Amino acid sequence: MSLFGKSLICTQDWSVQELDLILKTAIEMKKNRDDIRWREAFLRKDFLMMFYSPSIRTHLSFVAAATDLGGHAQYLSPSTVKLKSKLSAGESIEDVAKVMSQYMSGIGIRIMEDSVSAYGEGHQLIREYDKYATIPVINMADDVCHPCQALADIMGWTEHFSKKEGEQSAKNLKGKTLLLSWAKGKLARSWNSPQGSLILASRYGMNIKLARPDGYDMDPKIYKIARENCASHGSSFDIVTDAESGYEGADVVYSRNWISSEAYAGGVFNRETEVESALSHKDWMTTETKMRKTKNAIFTHPMPVDRGSEVEDGVASGHRSVIYNVASNRLHVQKAVIAHTMGRRENLVQLNTAARELITES
Ligand code: CP
Repeated sequence: MSLFGKSLICTQDWSVQELDLILKTAIEMKKNRDDIRWREAFLRKDFLMMFYSPSIRTHLSFVAAATDLGGHAQYLSPSTVKLKSKLSAGESIEDVAKVMSQYMSGIGIRIMEDSVSAYGEGHQLIREYDKYATIPVINMADDVCHPCQALADIMGWTEHFSKKEGEQSAKNLKGKTLLLSWAKGKLARSWNSPQGSLILASRYGMNIKLARPDGYDMDPKIYKIARENCASHGSSFDIVTDAESGYEGADVVYSRNWISSEAYAGGVFNRETEVESALSHKDWMTTETKMRKTKNAIFTHPMPVDRGSEVEDGVASGHRSVIYNVASNRLHVQKAVIAHTMGRRENLVQLNTAARELITES
């Protein structure tokens, strides 16, 4: 199996075997960060990052990932590029993507809730770059999916539920119950991280409990994919509308604010209305009391965390919180993605041999 030349826009586009290859490589890379098998895997190569929306973790971890692999990541602000849009003249995505492909080895793009006027526009834009680019395009979070975050989540949960280091496999998540709970918050976040994790957790056989107040359902197409993933594993997919009951029996608690289905009413992103409405749902916060109802669950969150709104400090900083380990995994997962999809071919032979051994061992 080779992932060379492959874009990562949504994990559902990849087979479980391909995702396993990334996760297994990432776990190995984390154990042996400076191993000769990958320290030159991206030597003298360049990864381009375009951020239409802000970031701390994604930006820094991609730079660190490219550097760790012997290469370089550079930042291009869309505001410094004259791109054609509905409102202004400029270069087409086709021209830009084809020119970028002459210099770079991969393109990462982030475009989220604050940079689009309707749900799905950001995802479409990334798909358009991918249509014309001749190098891999990596979704660094759009308004639909956040595949690198979802992989880092799964890796962090896997590490927790795998008893011995040698047995670290996402297969250990099968049958565990994920509570994915909406939470009040002031950040009005898009659906990308929870949807990305919903798709991937269901793909690895987790039972899904989705908790949200009325008006906060996410994309029905994503629910359909998650339901089908669950059905293929014989696992459950349930939705509850109260802020308490979902905690019973949960192994993983993921609470996060996300925007309502009315967020783009009128063709604009209504941030203030979203925040005001979200904060009126006072019970929707993860507390230590609620966590006591779970099966000693871990607490996970893609960050940034809106402490005191989404979750109590005692939970976010408590001994069952895996938020920093998951954030750390962004580096390792992205190193694995860069190495496999756009790394140096001579290193890929080594990397793929190592990865094949890892897969054979499991
Ligand atoms: N989780 C995540 O993508 O963080 P940033 O927005 O800081 O990149």
